[in-house]
Amino acid sequence: MGVIRAVIKGCGHYLPERVVENDEFTETLDTSDEWIRARTGIERRHFAADDQKTSDLAYEAAIVALKNAGMTGNNLDTIILATATPDQTFPSTATRLQHAIGMTGGFAFDIQAVCAGFIYALANATALIESGHAKTVMVIGAETFSRIVDFTDRGTCVLFGDGAGALVLQAEEGTGSGEDRGVLSTDLNSDGKYNDLLYVDGGVSSTQSTGKLRMNGQEVFKHAVSKLASSGKKALEVAGLQASDVDWIVPHQANLRIISRTAKKMGVSMDNVVVTVQDHGNTSAASIPLALSVAEQRGQIKKGDLLLLEAIGGGLAWGAAAVRW
Ligand code: UT7
Repeated sequence: MGVIRAVIKGCGHYLPERVVENDEFTETLDTSDEWIRARTGIERRHFAADDQKTSDLAYEAAIVALKNAGMTGNNLDTIILATATPDQTFPSTATRLQHAIGMTGGFAFDIQAVCAGFIYALANATALIESGHAKTVMVIGAETFSRIVDFTDRGTCVLFGDGAGALVLQAEEGTGSGEDRGVLSTDLNSDGKYNDLLYVDGGVSSTQSTGKLRMNGQEVFKHAVSKLASSGKKALEVAGLQASDVDWIVPHQANLRIISRTAKKMGVSMDNVVVTVQDHGNTSAASIPLALSVAEQRGQIKKGDLLLLEAIGGGLAWGAAAVRW
């Protein structure tokens, strides 16, 4: 019997012009290029210009994704934008993007699950498409973490970067098997007892200020590998697939050591893992769609490939998705 699948029609990304190499941090902090590379795999990241907002980054990525899908804004009926660094407290950054791309109908909203935001947005888009509530959905992750890091804290400020990545998904009939193109399964999780491991020390109803990012890196690291591997296995199981079917893991790009340990735990070779963390740093909700778009440009991922996406971040919130490109 036929089923409705959310199939990828186009992908795009945007990185701000300013590239910040690891060495730049040594001017103001007791750190080194060697430490940052060895502990994280990061070599450089991009920072938005002073006048660039999250919606500006999102716009650039969205335009490329629409072009690659052969569409314009008015072909979309929904935008789901994942961000922890919105332009304003309200309205949503998604509605700013909606107007910017000339989309005059439908609806747009933000999702906040920090670094897992793109997986959450993808799962919601898939549910809207599969239930018939939407036909053509843009899922986008866009962040300006350079605005919320504490540049006096060497344990966090060297890790993050700015950027945006976008996908266009459209309803298409599938067979219901793991051979279909599109989103085959998603697995979402969160556990609020870990709020204090990774958070921003400000907010509208608490301090009436934006605040700065705080993290217990070692603790987050410990949770990351086991939670990502188990969520990845769950997503494959739900899709009726196994690790040996995976062509590419496209992980959240936070730390190369987390990426490689998770791949090992899942029994997938690093030859089948998309890695962009060296050039982007951790771009939170933007990291997976950025990696997808870059990997497509590199010729790594191709139509029909089975991808396993996985991410974890503040909340803790984590999840995975099995997607046939
Ligand atoms: O996207 C959301 C998910 N977030 C993550 O996945 C992040 C997870 N955590 C991590 O990636 C790692 O824990 C970090 C990269 C944040 C830190 O690496 P680590 O190997 O866990 O280092 P550590 O925190 O145990 O620190 C080791 C040492 C400390 O010095 P002492 O106490 O041993 O003297 C730190 O003060 O490294 C020091 N250190 C630095 N040294 C030079 C911390 N940051 C730096 C730095 N440069 N930038």
